[in-house]
Amino acid sequence: MVQSRKTKSTSFKSNISSISIHEIETQKDIRFHSKIGEFDRVVGGGIVSGSVILIGGDPGIGKSTLMLQIAEGIEQGKVLYVTGEESIQQIKLRMERLSTKLGNLHLLAETNLDIISEVIERELPSIVIVDSIQTIYYPLLESAPGSIAQVRESTALITKIAKEKNISVLLVGHVTKDGSIAGPRVIEHMVDTVLQFEGEKHYAFRILRCLKNRFGSTNEIGIFEMRENGLQEVENPSEIFLTNRSRNISGSAVVASLEGTRPILVEVQALVTPTNYGMPQRTVTGFDLRRLQMLLAVLEKRLGYKVGTHDCFINIAGGIKIDEPAADLGIICAIVSSLTDKPISQDSVIIGEVGLGGEIRTIPQMERRIQEAEKLGFKKIILPEKNGKVFKSKKIQIIEARNLKNIIDFLFK
Ligand code: TYD
Ligand code: MG
Repeated sequence: MVQSRKTKSTSFKSNISSISIHEIETQKDIRFHSKIGEFDRVVGGGIVSGSVILIGGDPGIGKSTLMLQIAEGIEQGKVLYVTGEESIQQIKLRMERLSTKLGNLHLLAETNLDIISEVIERELPSIVIVDSIQTIYYPLLESAPGSIAQVRESTALITKIAKEKNISVLLVGHVTKDGSIAGPRVIEHMVDTVLQFEGEKHYAFRILRCLKNRFGSTNEIGIFEMRENGLQEVENPSEIFLTNRSRNISGSAVVASLEGTRPILVEVQALVTPTNYGMPQRTVTGFDLRRLQMLLAVLEKRLGYKVGTHDCFINIAGGIKIDEPAADLGIICAIVSSLTDKPISQDSVIIGEVGLGGEIRTIPQMERRIQEAEKLGFKKIILPEKNGKVFKSKKIQIIEARNLKNIIDFLFK
């Protein structure tokens, strides 16, 4: 067996040669602009022609709405919207509700991939939107639409057409309850760009996050608000997240979190009450439960607060999720504020990671956060000592936090 392979590899001849990188001719990327600034920015400055973009998200989050608004904004070429979920009449009605302008949009209600690919190859649109990949089936495969084999095969075929004919494709994919993009997860490696559209059902905010991008950075996020007439871009997210802020109430603190490269100021709320019976409860919305448990342990061990006999509820206002340690110090301050029933001065922003020893650790990209706090008219910013040494500001008072005790004393004594 080994021997036969050996003879084959020495005797085998092909007339294929490699090519020097200098001889390869390239074209500059052509990009389509959707006029939705937040979307174009997230994909790296418009949709690259011939690229395949996957947009995942929970059902009902607004993926179809976003696709229709993108289709409407594109003026450079024809857009083909392949719908496997809604009728073309439903789509037209929705489009009329979203806009007065219908753009150069063509619709196709079809789920058979043979027919879809034949139409694409005959009509040669600039952009194809497939809503959703889980409804499409390849007739040669026996498995049902939405199965992994179908999703994978359909994507492979659509990607092949996209590359051959230089057509951009937007694939919509539904996410399952547990948060993984079922089906679409298995095709992430085949596509050029993976976007995730997320938000809480009960809030109007939606975040478009880039998880993979062959044509740009993955740092950008787009923020939208779902309104009566579709998705609206949110240019000043902090202002909106802080609109309903509770004032002069204990347990509230403002933190500066970085979403992609964008600083967002959000209110964190803590409610701490004595446990009446049984185990103390810890409940979080928009924050990591384990991180909260860690912060409570630090408070108890380092500062002697008896949080072990208290229930603790943490809520990040506005339905946003924070997964950055930069919010630690703000959360601890909100907890102590609730526990002692002393409000934190409302013109302050608090930033810092808290370590197990109660030390306050430096935070990256502090300048952007400070600028955002300045822009929104905050007067004081509490930040890790090492960060504080680097910045000077005329508009905002910088308060350096040396350790946890020092900052708790400053705020509540
Ligand atoms: P949709 O785009 O159909 O979600 P998906 O394709 O991700 O399943 O959006 C569904 C929700 O958005 C629906 O519950 C109603 C809401 N919506 C608005 O609030 N305003 C609008 O203008 C539109 C079109 C939808
Ligand atoms: Mg939809």
